[in-house]
Amino acid sequence: MRSLRYLLVVSALSLYAAPASPTFHRDIEPILQNRCQGCHRPGEAAPMALLTYEQTRPWAKAIRAAIATGKMPPWQADPRYGKFTNDLSLTPAEKSKLLAWIDEGSPEGDSADAPKPRTFPQGGWRIPQPDAVFEMPTEFEVPAKGAIDYQYIAVNTNFKEDKWVQMAEVRPGDPSVVHHAIVVVDQHDGSYDEQYLGGYSPGATPQMWKPSQARLVKAGATLIFQMHYSANGKPARDRTRIGLVFARQPVTEQIAAMQALGLGLKIPPGAMNYRLDAQVKMSRDARLVAMRPHMHLRGKSFQFRAVYPNGDTEILLDIPKFDFNWQPYYYLETPKLLPRGTVIECTAYFDNSANNPFNPDPTATVVWGPQTWDEMMIGWLDVAVPAPGSAPLPALRGALR
Ligand code: HEC
Repeated sequence: MRSLRYLLVVSALSLYAAPASPTFHRDIEPILQNRCQGCHRPGEAAPMALLTYEQTRPWAKAIRAAIATGKMPPWQADPRYGKFTNDLSLTPAEKSKLLAWIDEGSPEGDSADAPKPRTFPQGGWRIPQPDAVFEMPTEFEVPAKGAIDYQYIAVNTNFKEDKWVQMAEVRPGDPSVVHHAIVVVDQHDGSYDEQYLGGYSPGATPQMWKPSQARLVKAGATLIFQMHYSANGKPARDRTRIGLVFARQPVTEQIAAMQALGLGLKIPPGAMNYRLDAQVKMSRDARLVAMRPHMHLRGKSFQFRAVYPNGDTEILLDIPKFDFNWQPYYYLETPKLLPRGTVIECTAYFDNSANNPFNPDPTATVVWGPQTWDEMMIGWLDVAVPAPGSAPLPALRGALR
């Protein structure tokens, strides 16, 4: 009898016992693979690799601080508005596992529990192995000091036929001197202006659309690399590339880039909360697939809203604390139907006071300009419209309500 009771107590205890402490291989490695290794591996933007236990262990304290403060993973969107496919933020469960693992001494655990190492395409691409890669024909020599004019470098695609590009990734040769790079397409057909194809900026994610969506690059098109270099104190060389993945299945929606531009920008010296608005109107029915705010060092916050033809307003993306170092495209999980006549409104705030630690000169009146000490306000949009020969978008009015 006594032994039976003892048994019952023991089994009840083990049922209700706290779960075993998290271990690196069983609990932490999968999180690092999904949330951190995209950047924390050799050749990427982050300063250290987090691929193995040996690499991760010494950073435990720093990781604790970075995730507790929300600095890592870098993700600025207010979670109340919009769901994004490239959301890097940790789930509450992932966050508490990481914190518990660190607080309990960061045990390694059994390597037999480890997930398979994550594999990355050759050449460091974040997109799958590209079908075509174009690079600047020669290295650009970046001087150690001084402002450098924008460079425009043309590269022929030599495409013999039209190509549908489903993914595009711009990779700087030397990220320490590439402030940003934009690749636009000159289609040589007179019907379009130059079309945005892909870009790199700090924290950028590659351009990746759904399998039936793509950008059109016409036969014979020329790619133009717009390179903005910033000197970093040492002479450097850069040769930036763009990798393209072509659509594998029929394309029903064509992706086009649009922008809301805050050209009237003029920020008085010391202004702490300078507001600027910009807008762009949909001239046809379209689906919004992605948004990207762009500002420089005085940028403080940025919001995208849709004002529908019936007057309803909806917040699409809100960045309450803009960080110049992180300017990704935000890809909507569910594309948003924008009937013709919808206005996309953007509102930005700037801080030109001495309280802004990034402000290069609080005494300056700041106007629009390309260099980091000038300012910009661009609300980039990627929209999808029916590809030539495809059916029009589904009835928009019904879908909206
Ligand atoms: C989108 C790219 C990206 C992702 C994803 C990312 N990091 Fe980072 N991380 C960086 C870069 C770049 C830096 C260095 C710049 C900086 O400190 O702001 C950095 C710095 C850090 C630092 C040093 C912070 C400091 O204060 O010096 C830690 C620790 C860190 N990351 C941990 C993580 C962890 C843990 C994850 C995943 C949960 C993660 N990072 C995800 C890019 C990334």
